[in-house]
Amino acid sequence: MADTTVIRSSFIHFLQDPAQADNINNTYQYLEDGLLVIENGHIKTLTAFDAQTAQQYPSVIDKRGKLIIPGFIDTHTHYAQTQMIAAYGEQLLTWLNTYTFPTEAQFNDIEHARKISQFFIHQLLKNGTTSALVFGTVHPQSVDALFETALEKNMRLIAGKVMMNRNAPTELLDTPESSYHDSKKLIEQWHNKGRLQYAITPRFAPTSTPAQLQLAGQLKAQYPDVYIHTHLSENKDEIAWVKSLFPEREGYFDVYDHYGLTGKKSIFAHAIHLTDKEWDSFQQTDSVIAFCPTSNLFLGSGLFDLTTADSKRVRVGLGTDVGAGTSFSPLQTLNEAYKVMQLQGKKLSPFKGLYMATLGGATSLSIDDKVGNFIPGKEADFVVLDLAATDLQKLRFSYSSGIEDKLFALIMLGDDRNIYETYVAGKSVYQRDTSSPN
Ligand code: GUN
Ligand code: ZN
Repeated sequence: MADTTVIRSSFIHFLQDPAQADNINNTYQYLEDGLLVIENGHIKTLTAFDAQTAQQYPSVIDKRGKLIIPGFIDTHTHYAQTQMIAAYGEQLLTWLNTYTFPTEAQFNDIEHARKISQFFIHQLLKNGTTSALVFGTVHPQSVDALFETALEKNMRLIAGKVMMNRNAPTELLDTPESSYHDSKKLIEQWHNKGRLQYAITPRFAPTSTPAQLQLAGQLKAQYPDVYIHTHLSENKDEIAWVKSLFPEREGYFDVYDHYGLTGKKSIFAHAIHLTDKEWDSFQQTDSVIAFCPTSNLFLGSGLFDLTTADSKRVRVGLGTDVGAGTSFSPLQTLNEAYKVMQLQGKKLSPFKGLYMATLGGATSLSIDDKVGNFIPGKEADFVVLDLAATDLQKLRFSYSSGIEDKLFALIMLGDDRNIYETYVAGKSVYQRDTSSPN
């Protein structure tokens, strides 16, 4: 017997990248009154509502008045930094030494890692995020704890143990050999278990010796299906530091490229200060960027150049980058992305923004055959949005006409209060507490 769920509501989802289309109106499907049929955790159909079709099903869940979109995809975040979000006053390198490393040292204790994993996964779902690419800490047990929690929810999550063997406190250092063996063991244990996948995670070039990067590349060659997840060209002092540590390499991207760490399943957070040659290398290697606007503004790192990425067809996903990022909410993150574009004299349409947070994120993580929109056969990860969750939103939407204006106002004014319900693989895993006012 098929396990079937049928929902009536408004729906919007994307079919292609608005930045690559001649006519933006062909890039999405909006159904003001639609019917979604889910069978065994997968999308069966999404059609305009008609009474005859609905009658074929014993029950239809009525969510009229809400807007259902695919689950958000966060392409870069650090679960172990949840407890130090919003730490005052520093730019990247001082911020890491002052706040980040002492916090991450606590994940030596698996009980602490379990506690924060549960909090973190709940925050994802509460913010409508159904998939994420996540940094653990240097401790393998930090990744065990996160994967255990995600597996319980049947989430599509990608994560990895940090590889880091220099330029950090001793208690946070591994060795090239131990990082290779620990990562290999985690791949064997977790990659493709349920909906989980593994990412080889060298923190960034300054905290790995050439020997460690070489072994990371060797591991990727042995397991080509796993991801590479790291940071790149976030901050100018960081870039100068990489130049001094790797004088024989042409630049920062070339360090990773040299060790076999670039490619279509390699995700680089930030990539703010790229040379023309590095942009070309991104294009040639089909590597991916995670754009993390709240983090880039919070740490004063710089303004990401989405326009060049689009013109070169470099895939870009949206990242919250908690805890340098200041919000778990992809809506808040898009709000800041819009302002990053404004500061460069550019626009970010709500369509492009929501594409990046859904199908664009899926494409960036090469999981667009599985999630990202409501094409039949995909896994049913989605969010039920309440567009009028606050008095201000109610007023604003009562004067709004058209889906584009509504989506833009949602991005500017929205946050976790707008997440009414979150579904993972066809099951409702989060419901907002509607008993207290927002
Ligand atoms: N570069 C190296 N590590 C980190 C980190 O934890 N956060 C950010 N934003 N950048 C990094
Ligand atoms: Zn990061």
